[in-house]
Amino acid sequence: MEMVKRIKEKARAAVKRIVLPEGDEPRTVEAARIIAAEGLAEPVLLTPGAIASAENKPRLAAYAAALYELRKAKGLTEEAAARLVADPMYYGMMMVKSGDADGLVSGAVHSTGDMLRPALQIVKTAPGMKLVSSALLMESPFAEFGENGILAFADCVVNPCPDAEGLANIAVATAETARALCGFGETRVAMLSFSTKGSAEHQLVEKVREATAIARSLAPDLVIDGELQLDAALVPEVAALKAKGSPVAGRANVLVFPDLQSGNIGYKIAQRLGGASCFAVLQGLAAPCNDLSRGCSVDDIVNTVAATAAQAS
Ligand code: ACO
Repeated sequence: MEMVKRIKEKARAAVKRIVLPEGDEPRTVEAARIIAAEGLAEPVLLTPGAIASAENKPRLAAYAAALYELRKAKGLTEEAAARLVADPMYYGMMMVKSGDADGLVSGAVHSTGDMLRPALQIVKTAPGMKLVSSALLMESPFAEFGENGILAFADCVVNPCPDAEGLANIAVATAETARALCGFGETRVAMLSFSTKGSAEHQLVEKVREATAIARSLAPDLVIDGELQLDAALVPEVAALKAKGSPVAGRANVLVFPDLQSGNIGYKIAQRLGGASCFAVLQGLAAPCNDLSRGCSVDDIVNTVAATAAQAS
């Protein structure tokens, strides 16, 4: 895959320290061996036993104290903080928070929510970012779409029902991720809907129009258009009929879905029926933390660690 090759090159040039909280999970252990051998990152495998060992006691206590400080206003007690950091997921997030690791990858065992919640609570959003969201980096066998078959989809993982401002933030962040990881010279963002340029009227369509306007004000140089139906966004002949003169229609390489139902369903249709390969990255966090599918392969873990290292660079 062209996209994965480019991400790996970026990771190799950066050599970042990436923590893997599921450190006794067999696919993760094998992936860590490959990551180290290929120089993609410095993997740190965490296990409950190693965290609780006698020689690690001072660091465990320091992380517990830091976690308590971070979350006491939200009602976390010292006892609860001490209990939480013994969990590799929370320990790993504290490593990232305190700069002892550059990023984190998990999800071979844990659910998306199990990983997202501590990332949102501990690592939090990057300065200036209001929202954490996801970008699905898709490589389609149909080279006529996107950039040689490569597209970024969002948000397919995190925000169930973003408002217009949230959707605008997702659009801007996804364009940035696509530039950084997919290497797009120009990002062309389509704000998707069931309507193209006024072909239907509904409050859901209005939200997409409003989001497009907000995104333009947030990033005046961004090439973005909406509302567009998927075919108008991707197919030049349909674009010529439905959205004449649009700088995006017919040649979009970033697709922003109006909510999580459509985004999650949309990427899985592209993957299962369209034969696209894909992997997800989170965007908007202060340091990169990424989630795997529980059905992931060793290669998926290697690629996601490489993407995390590339994001950290
Ligand atoms: N961006 C930034 N911060 C956020 C976001 C966000 N998108 N969402 C929640 N937060 C913050 C909250 O402000 C809160 O911060 P605080 O505790 O410091 O005040 C913290 O995160 C926790 O928020 P909660 O409200 O307790 O968490 P919530 O119940 O909203 O859960 C979550 C957040 C886990 C992201 C939820 O929205 C979710 O489950 N999303 C869907 C995940 C999912 O199942 N995806 C589909 C499957 S994945 C796949 O198919 C690949």
